[in-house]
Amino acid sequence: MTARHQPKASDEAATTGDPAAPRTGSLDRRLPGDLPRDALIERMIRVNHAGEYGARRIYEGQLAMLGRGSAEARIVRHMAEQEQRHLDAFDRLVADRRVRPTALQPLWHVAGFALGAVTAALGPRAAMACTVAVEEVIDEHYARQAERLSTEEPELRQMIEEFRADELEHRDIGLEHGAEQTPGYELLTGAIKAGSRLAIWLSERF
Ligand SMILES: [Fe+2]
Ligand SMILES: [Fe+2]
Repeated sequence: MTARHQPKASDEAATTGDPAAPRTGSLDRRLPGDLPRDALIERMIRVNHAGEYGARRIYEGQLAMLGRGSAEARIVRHMAEQEQRHLDAFDRLVADRRVRPTALQPLWHVAGFALGAVTAALGPRAAMACTVAVEEVIDEHYARQAERLSTEEPELRQMIEEFRADELEHRDIGLEHGAEQTPGYELLTGAIKAGSRLAIWLSERF
């Protein structure tokens, strides 16, 4: 005789949609030792603010190297304008919610610009490969945050989803403009992704 699966309270909640039920991956369901809710939200705002700042610096570095009137410069300027809008939004959130910005901003100021300038110096395709690498990491990062917020902080979540769509557009622009034809594409994007993930990890904490 086989024992029938006994539905647990959480299973039932998942099907009945009980709002009081724990939701997997959401802020309501934290493991012991996890950060309290407010600290988690603050961390999200801090790292996103840092990331958008870094993104703006990357494009500033690229624009410094790309010919002013070049087709690539026009494309990069479009992306830089969107990063500025993202940064402005997180600037406002940092101020409104009195979030401590990352202490590493001076580092991202220099490292972001350097990454942009070096990749653009390698050529327009390498500049686009840089965008593809960074935006793929940001896409994962924003997707994880949106999932984690679940139904909490609807405005923040909507902002993250909206910016994530822009970042995916940037990635697609990079792919459309020959990113993958960069010599050493895998090596270059692998290194930039590793650096971007490290920057996220650091900016969440410091
Ligand atoms: Fe952005
Ligand atoms: Fe972006």
